[in-house]
Formats: sequence, structure tokens, C-alpha cells
Amino acid sequence: MMSGGTGWGAGAFRSNGERIYFTATSERGTAITYTGGPASSGWMMGSGQLACASCHGTDGRGGVHRMGMNQVMDAKDIRWSALQGEFDLEKFRLAVVKGQDPDGTQLKSDMPRWTINDDDLADVIVYLKTLP
Ligand code: HEC
Repeated sequence: MMSGGTGWGAGAFRSNGERIYFTATSERGTAITYTGGPASSGWMMGSGQLACASCHGTDGRGGVHRMGMNQVMDAKDIRWSALQGEFDLEKFRLAVVKGQDPDGTQLKSDMPRWTINDDDLADVIVYLKTLP
């Protein structure tokens, strides 16, 4: 079974955080949705739903994606080893849910604004901590 258009089956994951990272679905059955993202600037990721891995990569290190003619999206490194220091659980939540950077500015709209509950978010962090 394909899940969410990201090409991975839901049974393929070792943890719920890993599943959310790759599929934006939770084993809790809670809904994970988003608004925004680069669709408005013409960037298409197939027909499926976006998940963190679509932009931040299978290794969490982010990377540059070309969108359309001249547009480039630079997704950040979100391995916990890269985020820690600047981010804690609450700051991570504000970034993912509200697009609020710890420095007080708004993240670019290429980063979707997510609706995700605190338990699922905590699972994502547990997963990000496992990334080398
Ligand atoms: C459509 C592409 C896309 C998807 C999907 C996406 N992101 Fe992002 N994300 C970005 C971009 C681009 C940035 C950088 C925004 C900026 O520079 O203002 C970003 C920034 C972030 C940041 C801030 C990092 C920093 O150092 O400031 C966090 C945290 C983050 N994303 C977490 C997530 C999580 C967790 C998910 C999955 C639930 C996710 N993102 C899904 C594109 C994406």
C-alpha cells in the first residue's frame, strides 16, 4: 500500500516519528495536515501529500530544490543535532505549526504550516534525534 503519495508503505517504519516524517500520517490515527507550501509558486511534488522528507530529505539534511524557471527552495537541515541550541520542543512546535523562527521572524511560505498534535510532534523530534 502506498501512503500519502510519498512512496513508502506505512508498515515500513521503526517508529511513529519516522512514519510521520516520511508520510505525514500517524499511527495514532490523528490527522496531520498543512496549509501553504510551495504549490502557490508552481512547484509540484507529484500528486501526493507533502511530508517532511519531501523537502528536508530522507536524511533530514534539507537541500536545495529547483522550482520552475528561476525559483529555488532551500529547505533547512532539521536533524536535531543541527537544530539543538536554537530549538527546544516549544520552539520547534512554533516553527512547524506557526512558521515562527526562534529569532522572531516568519519562515518562508515554502515551509508549510502544519496542524499536528503535540504527541505526534514529540515523536518527530525523537526521530530527528536518531539522524546522524
Ligand atoms: C514543501 C517543503 C517543506 C516541507 C514538506 C516541510 N518543510 Fe520544513 N522547511 C522548508 C523550508 C523551505 C524551510 C526554510 C524556511 C526559511 O528559510 O524561512 C523549512 C524550515 C523548517 C524548520 C526551521 C529550521 C530552521 O533552522 O530555522 C523546521 C523546524 C522545519 N522546517 C520542520 C519541518 C517538519 C517537522 C516538517 C514535516 C512535518 C517539514 N518541515 C516539512 C520546507 C519544507
